[in-house]
Amino acid sequence: MASPQAAAPRPAGAPLSIDAARYLGTDGIRRVKPEWEIIVAERAFPPHPENPQADWLPAVVVPALKLIVEDQGGARSFASIGTGAGVDILTGVELLGARVVGATDVFADITDAAEWNIRNNLGAGHPVEVHVGAGDLLAPLAGRGLSFDVIYENLPNIPLSDAASLEKRRNSSSFVPRRTEEVPQFARDWLLELHHIALVQAGDFLSRDGFVISTLGGRIPLEYLRRLAESAGLAPSFLTYSWKVQVEGEDVLPSYAALERKGLGPFSYYPVDALEKAFEGVSPRESGVRALEIEGDLLPHRVTATQAWEAYREGRRVGHTVAVLKSAKV
Ligand SMILES: C[S@@+](CC[C@H](N)C(=O)[O-])C[C@H]1O[C@@H](n2cnc3c(N)ncnc32)[C@H](O)[C@@H]1O
Repeated sequence: MASPQAAAPRPAGAPLSIDAARYLGTDGIRRVKPEWEIIVAERAFPPHPENPQADWLPAVVVPALKLIVEDQGGARSFASIGTGAGVDILTGVELLGARVVGATDVFADITDAAEWNIRNNLGAGHPVEVHVGAGDLLAPLAGRGLSFDVIYENLPNIPLSDAASLEKRRNSSSFVPRRTEEVPQFARDWLLELHHIALVQAGDFLSRDGFVISTLGGRIPLEYLRRLAESAGLAPSFLTYSWKVQVEGEDVLPSYAALERKGLGPFSYYPVDALEKAFEGVSPRESGVRALEIEGDLLPHRVTATQAWEAYREGRRVGHTVAVLKSAKV
């Protein structure tokens, strides 16, 4: 299990080169290779190193991991549920200094590439025990006696009924089959089903002081994100709170507007200038502590997804908040 591994065959997929320091926004790279050679499997969610601020991992996850380093110096073990290309694991190794990592994703072609990417881009001086498996949520890591200090999940929350937008999306991040597990009604109503099931499962994989970080494109009031953790038996707090411009609105906004017509939501959008003002000068640390207050400040500017879709079609810029929820073992 320790790295580096005897050469595994190169998996199928598109090659991608990532300058680790630029991608992670750090000066020195210590634990992984400085230039990552990545294979992106055809169905995998692809990284976007050419524009790190548009890529969820450097833009949203890296600031949260840096806060974890400030708070506790790092983490010995790190897992990702739904790893995609595996670059989140390399990020956890570099920033947190993880020595044991676990990664899952739905299809074996994705995890084969992710495992290759992880093993081939670890630094020689920082041995890491690597566990990767294909399957549902944390199931592939069960039965190996593993526990993790930090579990990261950035699972999709697109409902299956939203077939129109699913057809357009090519990669596995839109693969969300219907679930049979018991999930509280509020979690179903707010499209948080998969996150809830992941948090419940994660409870069994967390080390004593462990926690899960969930990244949630907050079109959903923060109150429900707190309830998400609590109903899974974990203690919520917000690590960071930030925002994003809604790009490719024609793919996303009609789906949320259609859900509003069915009686769900209303989902929260804001004009970009209101978001800029609310978050101006707020550090990542402060954003998490003040998340509820910032949400309150934004309230007078809030529009529904239906209104946001109208505004978007008229050429006005809209955005939504993004929360990094920390769900700790109690
Ligand atoms: C938005 S991508 C995130 C990729 C990567 N973790 C990141 O943050 O850049 C979501 C990932 O979750 C995976 N996924 C979806 N449903 C899953 C499930 N039930 N179990 C495991 N992984 C799942 C998708 O295949 C996809 O790779």
